[in-house]
Amino acid sequence: MARPILLVKSGGEAAMPEWQGLFAEMAPGVEVRWWDDPAVDPAAVRYVLVWDPEPGRLAKLPNLRVIFGSGAGVDFIASDPDLPRHVPLVRMATPGAAQRMGEFVTWAVLSLLKGARRIGIAQSERRWDYFEPELTAPETTIGIMGLGHMGEAAARMLQGIGFPVIGWSRTRKDLPGVRSFVGEAERDAFLAATRILVCLLPATPETRHILAAPLLGRLPMGAGLINVGRGSQQRVEDILAALDSGRLSGAVLDVFEQEPLPADHPAWAHPKLLVTPHLASLPPRSERAAHVARLIAAHERGEALPNTYDHSRGY
Ligand code: NAP
Ligand code: GLV
Repeated sequence: MARPILLVKSGGEAAMPEWQGLFAEMAPGVEVRWWDDPAVDPAAVRYVLVWDPEPGRLAKLPNLRVIFGSGAGVDFIASDPDLPRHVPLVRMATPGAAQRMGEFVTWAVLSLLKGARRIGIAQSERRWDYFEPELTAPETTIGIMGLGHMGEAAARMLQGIGFPVIGWSRTRKDLPGVRSFVGEAERDAFLAATRILVCLLPATPETRHILAAPLLGRLPMGAGLINVGRGSQQRVEDILAALDSGRLSGAVLDVFEQEPLPADHPAWAHPKLLVTPHLASLPPRSERAAHVARLIAAHERGEALPNTYDHSRGY
């Protein structure tokens, strides 16, 4: 009997030999084929592993059982107006992804605290720019917007090196040592208590352009900003204006509405902004394949799938 097909669109066609090798070892019961392989019968496709499928394409797979998002955020899949809503959409929530995000956020926080952008500029100009970073970790409250899989890991790591951490989410959290703020009603109090703001929210209509002038104006003067959520959550022009006015003392942006960020974008050259190319947390293919292989086996045994996208919440 022919094996069910897992169709893959993650990392481009060039990544296929690696995916095929990994799944041959970890899920030999499925046949792994490239997304645009013309020889694939759509009716034979049982699983897909994708980051950004073309709208309408998933609806053309009549026997699709599970959609595996190749990232933690599945907004580029969920935005498909023809998404087959009866098919579970699984977010890539591996322990390694949370570990990597915690490390990245910790690096970004310490970079702001220690003036990494200023140091980098001076070095590129061979200039001995001596200065004394003002604050230490215990004096710097980190406010994390989004206390989910990623936000919680970042909170734990930051606490581990002495940062007080507070968090903002849709529902109340009970994380050791992390004061929990909830919803619109508690947002301003959360922002007022935050010295460095970290955005780890999913892309939803509610979070679109949340990182804009009105919110930035609620932070203490000279606060720092880190966005590792999605580019759709920020207005870059407002962030640049806040950096110019001193409302923000520094920022790290890992995500942008247009990726790659165009070479002529003013964000590249701002002396208080660190731009990173959407690399905060992506586990290696081996880890993602192992996760998907485990979940395929669980699904075939009739078990419930974890971390599925909730259409009513939008994440
Ligand atoms: P998650 O576990 O679903 O957590 C999302 C958090 O956001 C939850 O705490 C949720 O609150 C909160 N939230 C959602 N909507 C909200 C709203 N309107 N107001 C207040 N809080 C809200 O997701 P995750 O796995 O941590 O990932 C978060 C996001 O990080 C992803 O969606 C993706 O966009 C981004 N990401 C980026 C990278 C990168 O490399 N830059 C890598 C991975 C992920 P509740 O807990 O109350 O539901
Ligand atoms: C990356 O941005 C992810 O959502 O995993």
